[in-house]
Amino acid sequence: VDLTGANTLGMPSRAERFVAADSIAALRDALRQAAEQGWPLSMLGGGSNLVLRPYLPGLTLQPTFADWRLEDVGQGKVRVHVGAGMNWHGLVEELAAFELWGTENLALIPGNVGAAPIQNIGAYGVELADVLEQVHLLHLDDWREEILGRDDCAFGYRDSIFKHALDGRVVITQLVLRVSKRARPRLDYGDLATRLCNTPTASEVVAAVSAVRREKLPDPTRLGNAGSFFKNPVTSAEQAQALLASHPDLPHFPLADGRVKLAAGWLIDQCGLKGLRDGHVGIHERQALVLVHYGGGSAEELLALAQRVVDEVERRFGVVLEREPRLMGQPA
Ligand code: EPU
Repeated sequence: VDLTGANTLGMPSRAERFVAADSIAALRDALRQAAEQGWPLSMLGGGSNLVLRPYLPGLTLQPTFADWRLEDVGQGKVRVHVGAGMNWHGLVEELAAFELWGTENLALIPGNVGAAPIQNIGAYGVELADVLEQVHLLHLDDWREEILGRDDCAFGYRDSIFKHALDGRVVITQLVLRVSKRARPRLDYGDLATRLCNTPTASEVVAAVSAVRREKLPDPTRLGNAGSFFKNPVTSAEQAQALLASHPDLPHFPLADGRVKLAAGWLIDQCGLKGLRDGHVGIHERQALVLVHYGGGSAEELLALAQRVVDEVERRFGVVLEREPRLMGQPA
């Protein structure tokens, strides 16, 4: 099965076998069959945070169940139960339309609900962990169901237990979010506040965040990309101080633990790499953190460009950038 259209980078890739599971029961059946046949498993969500190599052996599974419902839990709080296959932005829009607050800053992030906890999606001062209550999952080895509370998920900046201890061992089937009927706009990131009145509706915040993203980030349906290709690096206070002494305008954000997060986009930009095109791949002209695929390229070509970026930034600033999207599959 051709997966070229199933990853937002548009990398040519083929799955040996592919099942779109439209229920948890169907997912379980497919897992059982894979175990019987000894097929290796790959899990696919919206394909928006992936670098796909040419071939996925065994069985590739994509949850497509997308039921969702609201549960009023009193005191102005509402629980949202949502299936892994729902489109994340679709959910954000639905909740905003009900004037339910909590996810509006996470508008227009591509991908499906089930993948959101893996990298703890975040933007404009909010991350998934802020609104998440539970993650429902199936273990791949014995198909048992488990429910993790937010505190079990080891959430960090673009990080969670699903990238570590549970990497490749579970499939996320459902999320439970907690949102609020009470308006609580969070507009302190960037110029969000200047785009809105003091008492915006949730849908107005969704529209403003979407507008900012459309200005800076390439639309994956027009130009292949996987969002930020690198994490913003976190350095020691000493290293940040030394860098700031020579580069006073380096955008930086002190963290609670004393370390400092630096803007990777700025570092790459300063190396003069923004807008660079190298064969079929390149660096986006409006946001240096985003690598793009013009078509006709390959994962290897993109990874080579990424390595060049890492090397240049390390040479100039002594900071090592870490890749954000996950690498899946193998050479043809
Ligand atoms: N900057 C530059 N040149 C660039 C890009 C950025 O100088 O080419 C500077 C900006 O001027 C700004 C700073 O770097 O001072 C930060 O830029 P921006 O506000 O655009 O955010 P970011 O740190 O580049 C992060 C997330 C985005 C998220 C935005 C908004 C990561 C890896 N990326 O980007 O997430 O939308 O903040 O919250 O944390 C994603 O993960 O795919 C993604 C798009």
